[in-house]
Amino acid sequence: MSLAPQELENNASKYASEAIKFDSQGARGMAIANYQKAIDSLVKLLQLYPSSKLNPLYKERCNSYHNRIQALQDSHGVEPAVDPGVSHEEKKKSVERQEDENDFEELVMKEKPNVSWTEVIGLEDAKSALRESIIYPTKRPDLFPLGWPKGMLLYGPPGTGKTMLAAATASEMDGYFINVDASSMMSKWLGEAEKNVSKLFRMARKYAEKEGKPVILFVDEVDSLLGSRNSEVGGEVRTKNQFLTEMDGVNGKGKDLMLYVIGATNKPWSLDWPFLRRFQKRIYVSLPTQEARESLFKQYTADLSMGPRISSTELARMFDGYSASDIKDVCQAAHLTTVHELFDSPDYHEPIEGEIAQKPRSLSTADFKTIMSRRKPSVSTEMVRAYHKWSEEFRAL
Ligand SMILES: Nc1ncnc2c1ncn2[C@@H]1O[C@H](COP(=O)(O)OP(=O)(O)O)[C@@H](O)[C@H]1O
Ligand SMILES: [Mg+2]
Repeated sequence: MSLAPQELENNASKYASEAIKFDSQGARGMAIANYQKAIDSLVKLLQLYPSSKLNPLYKERCNSYHNRIQALQDSHGVEPAVDPGVSHEEKKKSVERQEDENDFEELVMKEKPNVSWTEVIGLEDAKSALRESIIYPTKRPDLFPLGWPKGMLLYGPPGTGKTMLAAATASEMDGYFINVDASSMMSKWLGEAEKNVSKLFRMARKYAEKEGKPVILFVDEVDSLLGSRNSEVGGEVRTKNQFLTEMDGVNGKGKDLMLYVIGATNKPWSLDWPFLRRFQKRIYVSLPTQEARESLFKQYTADLSMGPRISSTELARMFDGYSASDIKDVCQAAHLTTVHELFDSPDYHEPIEGEIAQKPRSLSTADFKTIMSRRKPSVSTEMVRAYHKWSEEFRAL
């Protein structure tokens, strides 16, 4: 059976964190195999939704895994030929210096995602918190003599729109968007980890100073920065501490700079207090409400042919407990059944010149019921309870 997109995304993250674990232990082969699996999952996801707005982010993630595979393979390959004019050491140094810069510049998204606030359904709290902390101070810094929050943590179940919110924030402002996928960055940061964290922030500050435009440093899956607590090797502790120091810089000395750090996580409980308190805003990105589900169904069936008796209110009620991304998958699956039916029908034929091409039949409520019986919500009720519990204690709006 083929995997649902949400599962593909989850798998990609899972393989990536496995890869990093092996990478950090020097298990090259296993690391390469897992990076490759992460790439495969993302490629499948890209194929399923070729026009999804978040694809630039996923593509970038693929590239960074790909580069890491290449680096791992090269490190065991033949030494590069030495240019006779330059000493080996010098050559190595200049290559390293260049790599340093390129490593981080490539994270500044050239092609900014193109997601508008209105496409992000529901999540009004989250949207206004981001707007108030980023858009307003950018427009009128003079109105914020006491500064404003620079660290924002988006937490909640997978597929609820955390990445999308960060992308919308970036699209809606004129500035730079630095997309750091923590799980892929860990591998870059291994070894010289702390130094690289400072370099990353230095680069972000450089952009913020240069043009006075806002810079968003978006760290997706920020929990993987911390490593698993019981297996922290020295390097990881130092990496994390360096990150905390840099966050203090953003909130302290650099408080007039338009530099923001947005973190996103599905596992808020794996973050400790020193880490959490640097994110003054902690925003719960929850499963969609009835009203939001209605809008989601409207949005994701807009281009589909819907039967006259089907109501988004009823669909929303049926799919209580499903995430936004589940709902998108459900709409796609329902549509695909009718497309398959069309291809399988005995009088199907390829469009003939001058004739209107045959279209799939309209969707009915029954189609959605069938999908529902085959597809459970990707977030369990126990998980939802865990998010609520954590939220009560740590939410900060
Ligand atoms: N609030 C939302 N409104 C509209 N679409 C959403 C929303 N949340 C998720 N989606 C859909 O699901 C996909 C995955 O969402 P994403 O932002 O990556 O979730 P998360 O980062 O919380 O795991 C998005 O590309 C989008 O198509
Ligand atoms: Mg995400």
